[in-house]
Amino acid sequence: MTDATPLSPGPGRTRQTEIFVTGAGGRRPLVPVAPAALEAAAAAKMSAEAAAYVIGGAGMESTMAANRAAFDRRRLVPRVLADVSRRDLSVELFGRRHAAPLLLAPIGVLELAHREADLAVARAAATEGVGYVFSNQASVPMEDCAAAMGTAPRWFQLYWSSDDDFVRSLLSRAEKAGCEAVVLTLDTTLLGWRPRDLDLGYLPFLRGMGLAQYLSDPVFRAALPASPPDTGFKPRGAGILATAASLVRIGRRHGLSLGRMRAAAAHFTATYSRPNLRWADVERLRGMTRLPILLKGVRHPDDARRAAAAGVDGLVVSNHGGRQVDGEAGTLDLLPAVVAAAGGMPVLLDSGVRTGTDVARALALGARAVLLGRPYVYGLALSGETGVREVIRNVVAELDLTLALCGITSVADLGPHIFAD
Ligand code: GLV
Repeated sequence: MTDATPLSPGPGRTRQTEIFVTGAGGRRPLVPVAPAALEAAAAAKMSAEAAAYVIGGAGMESTMAANRAAFDRRRLVPRVLADVSRRDLSVELFGRRHAAPLLLAPIGVLELAHREADLAVARAAATEGVGYVFSNQASVPMEDCAAAMGTAPRWFQLYWSSDDDFVRSLLSRAEKAGCEAVVLTLDTTLLGWRPRDLDLGYLPFLRGMGLAQYLSDPVFRAALPASPPDTGFKPRGAGILATAASLVRIGRRHGLSLGRMRAAAAHFTATYSRPNLRWADVERLRGMTRLPILLKGVRHPDDARRAAAAGVDGLVVSNHGGRQVDGEAGTLDLLPAVVAAAGGMPVLLDSGVRTGTDVARALALGARAVLLGRPYVYGLALSGETGVREVIRNVVAELDLTLALCGITSVADLGPHIFAD
């Protein structure tokens, strides 16, 4: 006898069917499904400066390679005859059930990829039911993104500025915007050495880009100096006009004159980070917000133990997508020891995640969820909100199919037993 209950196809088969049926009508997916083709198409669409900034990494980019190698090294051994007709991809994080173990990573300066920038990403995340971590270096203020997301989950990434009053203001705005966690980013207390950007002499912030959280903040605006502080360097050449045009265009959005925008870019550069952060500051942060606090950038188990002792709520094993220190270990290689040291708090992972199978591998090694980074920016560059939606759906689809084909019915059942060794 056959079971007559219709089986729900799940996100994997649904997406495959959509692609193939649309393909039968002669239409290809809007954005390439294959990760390398996706990156290449986005690189061709973006300006040279934007492509360098988004795609590039630190030094020889060997950390980016190590991130990928760590995934590639973990080989799966599928099991059969396990009735995988129904799969559960959902996970719980800080009291909220997420439909898939995936959030969109905080990525700055998305206006480099598409004019709708963070807003398009916020809409795509909300429509697809995945969380979005608002970037501290966003191109759209968090309130606008939150308004576009309804009740969908959003977190806030914090770069701890050297101005504590500004940090307090950001935190209170994040709380009001419905953010459900703060992700204190410790892998980028200074900007890494990035040859692609250095060779183009290109830093978007100096053109006023990626500063929307600052330019929309009353505390930051009130602290702007009357005239830009002297850096000791003077820009010369034809690029000055393009820089001024960019500052004027962005200033208009925020009601700031060219002079105030120059002051804002300089004030940002002077205050954006705090390399003197110490563990005591993490404890101080607890007093500054009621939201759960995650530390992003913890790679060493001793730091994970310190974080657990400091009472933080979660960790993100991250090397900032290989953008900070060249020659690092891949995050997936570091994950198990961090999870073991984290005393049961949720540990997330980013850096190098490209596919649904990568998500499965990270979860199998103890991650509660992953942050997906560059791939969604590529989708954004190619097709705005719809492109981001396609990338999300492709990753979730592959995760769903990988589970089924490995004989697993729930992400909760992923574990090291799925690997060859
Ligand atoms: C900033 O966060 C960057 O990675 O460029």
